[in-house]
Order: sequence, then C-alpha cells, then structure tokens
Amino acid sequence: MKCRANIARKMRPKARQDVSNEPLNAAKGPLFGKNVLVGLTGSIACCKTCELIRTLIKNGANVKTVVSPAALEFIGEKTLETLSNSLVYSDTFSKSRSTEHIHLTDWADIFVIAPITANTISKFAAGIADNLITSTFNAYLGLKKPVVIAPAMNTGMLNNPFVQNNIIKLQNEGVKIVKTETGPLACGTVGNGRMANVVKIYQTIFETLCPAGVSDINRAKGKILLTMGGTREPIDPVRFISNASSGRMGLCLADCAHSMGYDVEIISTIKIENRPYKTTIVNSTLDMLEAVEKSFSEADYLIMAAAVADYRVKNPLPHKLSKKNEGETLTLELVQNPDILKNMGQIKKENQKTIGFSLGTENIIETAKAKLQAKNADFIIANEAKVALNTDENEVWIIDKSGKSVHIEKNSKENVAKAILEQVL
Ligand code: CTP
Repeated sequence: MKCRANIARKMRPKARQDVSNEPLNAAKGPLFGKNVLVGLTGSIACCKTCELIRTLIKNGANVKTVVSPAALEFIGEKTLETLSNSLVYSDTFSKSRSTEHIHLTDWADIFVIAPITANTISKFAAGIADNLITSTFNAYLGLKKPVVIAPAMNTGMLNNPFVQNNIIKLQNEGVKIVKTETGPLACGTVGNGRMANVVKIYQTIFETLCPAGVSDINRAKGKILLTMGGTREPIDPVRFISNASSGRMGLCLADCAHSMGYDVEIISTIKIENRPYKTTIVNSTLDMLEAVEKSFSEADYLIMAAAVADYRVKNPLPHKLSKKNEGETLTLELVQNPDILKNMGQIKKENQKTIGFSLGTENIIETAKAKLQAKNADFIIANEAKVALNTDENEVWIIDKSGKSVHIEKNSKENVAKAILEQVL
C-alpha cells in the first residue's frame, strides 16, 4: 500500500486507539491551561505557523494570534481565527479597548513570534513600538515574561551584521531564538534563512513553559522508550567498532511523539541537547540492553531505532593496542551480542508494544518480515541503507504482524517520523 507521509493519518485503521481507554487527563495535553500568544510578521513562513498553532492546541494550550500588517499579506485572518478559535489581534487601538497590548501581555504565559522578520527583530532590539506586535513585545519583555522568536528571511538579510547584532541583543535580554535552517528559500535561492521546523519551535515553547521534570504530570497518552544512535563495541580504551547511524531518525521520532503528548524516555549513544526527555547515554550493546531492561517495565512502547551491533570484541584490551610488526595481520575475535528487541519481545506484557527498524541493502521488505517474526515485534519499519543513513530524509515501509505493509514515500525525517507514529501508536 502506498501513501504520502502527510496523509498517513487517513490510512490509519480507526479501531487502533480506543479513546475511551485513555486516562481521563490525556485529552488535556501537556500544555493544558497555558496561554500562548503567537505573533506573525510578514514572511511566507506564516503558512508554517498554521501547523504550529494546531500543535499547540492539540497539546492543550490556549492560543491567541497577533499579526503585523505585513503578515496579513501572507495569511488570511479567517485562517488564524479558525485555527486558534480566537479573534486575531492586529489593531493597537481596537474598538473594544485602547490598551490591547497590555491586555495581551497580561493574558499570555509566553509570547512566540514565528515567523519574525529582520524588520521586526530590529524594531524589537531598538525598543520601537509602532504596531500591536512591537508594542506587546515592549510591554512583555519589560515584565521579564518569556519570549521565543523564530526568524525567517533571505540569507543576505540574515547575514547582515545589524540583524545579527540585533539578534544577539535580544538573546542577551533572555529572548529565546529558534535558529533558522538551511534549504530552498522563497526568493528562489538555497541557503540559511528558512524558519525552523515547527517541531523545534514547539519544543522550545514546551521547554520554556514546562522545564524538564515538571512536564510529565500530564503526559498521560503513554510512555515511549526509544533507543537511538549506533552502539559502540570497544576494541581497546580508545578504539571501537560502530556504524554510520546518526540518530536523526530516532530524535525525530522522539520529538514527534513528545509533541503528540507522549512521555518520551531516550537511551542513546549520542548526546542530545535542548530536549526535556529523560535520557541515558550508553556506548555498547550490553550497556544499552541494561538500560532498556531497567526502563522497559514502565513503557507502553519500545521503539528500537538504534543501530545495534550484532557482535562485540570478545576480549577488549585494557590498554591501547600497539601496531604489530610490518606485514603482520591482526585478528579480533567477535562474539554475538544479545538481541535487545528480541529479548523484550519475549518478556513484553499484553499492553506493551515493541517496534523495530530493519535497515537493509536488498530484499528489504522480506528481510523485515522475517525479523518481525523472529523478534516477536508488533511492527518493523523497513528502510534502505543508502536512503536512510546520515541523511535528512527517509523512505520506509511499516510492516505489521499480519504482514501488511504501508509505504511512506521519501520525505523529511520529521514527516516520516510523524507518519510512522500515526501508524504504530
Ligand atoms: N536489534 C537489537 N539488538 C541487536 C540487533 C538488533 O535490538 N543485537 C534491533 C535493532 O535496534 C532494530 C532491529 O533489531 O530495531 C533490527 O536490527 P537490524 O540490525 O536491522 O537486524 P538484525 O536483527 O541485527 O539482523 P541483520 O543485521 O542480520 O540484518
């Protein structure tokens, strides 16, 4: 079966999630009760803000939008009104009150301006208050309330030293910057300046509103234990055997699951920054197994996105291995590692699901089906090494126990992660 990542939701069998079985507070979402003021300024990236508003609302936040006059050249008021279920604020001197900026400042727990243009950044940094967004920012920052900005502009504008200095000025005053990304720009060039991915912006909002540790109270949709990165099998204290896994797919799955309201715990071989998840850093397969065993009983889902080494060096040396005499060969004896996914597949309870990845170079679907059986997994995500390894995109086949496979066409890892989770959770 074929489907695009962004329409995968439609393919999802309706019966998979029994809403009535969800704990009562699940529907509230992790941002329940939080007031998020979303500001939009004049950039084509305004269309991405629609997804941000949807994500915030899905996660329980109340959203109001405030727009600059230029933003309305790119997005319709009705769209924002419908998505946020609230009026769009654009007039400093509205019919109802002449102190709209103060009203919005009082209401909001966080002010997020996404996209923010070079023009508005510079006005913010100079303390100018000539429209509702800039006036609100002035009052908001003056009260030391949290502000997040996600710039979007052409590379030349971004590299302008005045713009850069103004960004630094704002950062020094505590404004959180969600950095731009590199890719095709609206002006037809390719470069740095695209507004950050919505997941990243949401993440920053979430971390600001719910610092790590406080967040998990409402994460009642379920707990996901996720492994990522390539395991490292030591040869001696400075050398190891590993693979080319970057951990990117795993991190996209974590971020996406988190934005869907799941409690995420990560076991990774790669350090992860700026994320609120409980994370254990491991090196070898044996370390990863130990960490998974520790947390598995609490998890509703285990997603093994890690590229786990099948073999380890039998006797790693306690000191650095020296080069042999010229011409002499070196033989390392390898022994098989335990299979983490298989082990968990054998002990899982009825309410627990195990999901694995199968990275192959040929016969990828057949190989994945065999692994699903052998490891008693609920799903195996098949992907191809040359597409998946160390890239920003992926193409996958999601195979379930009945042998049915859903094809997610090549797309960004963020979108593929979303499509996978919509199928397997
Ligand atoms: N896996 C695991 N423990 C291992 C090896 C693999 O938990 N010792 C998990 C991986 O994280 C992945 C799935 O099993 O989710 C499939 O891994 P993969 O390396 O594709 O397959 P293998 O079973 O190792 O078989 P092969 O390497 O022969 O393809």
